[in-house]
Amino acid sequence: MLDLRYTLYDNEADFEEEDKKLISQARVACESSYSPYSHFQVGSAILLSTQHIITGSNQENAAYPSGLCAERVALFHAGANYSNEVIRKLALTAKKQADTIFVPVTPCGSCRQVLLEYEMKQNSSIEIIMQINDYQWVKTKSAKVLLPFCFNKDSL
Ligand code: THU
Repeated sequence: MLDLRYTLYDNEADFEEEDKKLISQARVACESSYSPYSHFQVGSAILLSTQHIITGSNQENAAYPSGLCAERVALFHAGANYSNEVIRKLALTAKKQADTIFVPVTPCGSCRQVLLEYEMKQNSSIEIIMQINDYQWVKTKSAKVLLPFCFNKDSL
């Protein structure tokens, strides 16, 4: 049976310090978003087992599909530069360019698929931290919770 449970936080302040730091780094990463088309700034922060934090932001392109989401920018950076280190957690944040407040955002389907790939590569789960509405947050123990019945290498 798949375990699709997650933890719901009614208040951001309830997160443990390590998670708060990751959320804060993801928010800083929003500032480097290159999003002249959507004006939607997304920031992600990854915590490695070494405690090292890697951040990413969405990078858009005039040829729209050539752009990349914040999560995959950070994940691929980790894969390329810290290939032997385990990715423990990913926090995701977003804001609209014209505003100062942060808004809810959850990983798109392609980013969920990439998160799953890295879980399989490293043979351990990645916790995902995200804001689901104006005041609530969710932490999942694994990307599998976000993409059950997934396609993966076992099918090939
Ligand atoms: N975006 C992300 O960076 N991550 C997601 O999971 C959802 C969408 C970006 C892609 C694009 O630059 C903008 O948000 C609007 O879709």
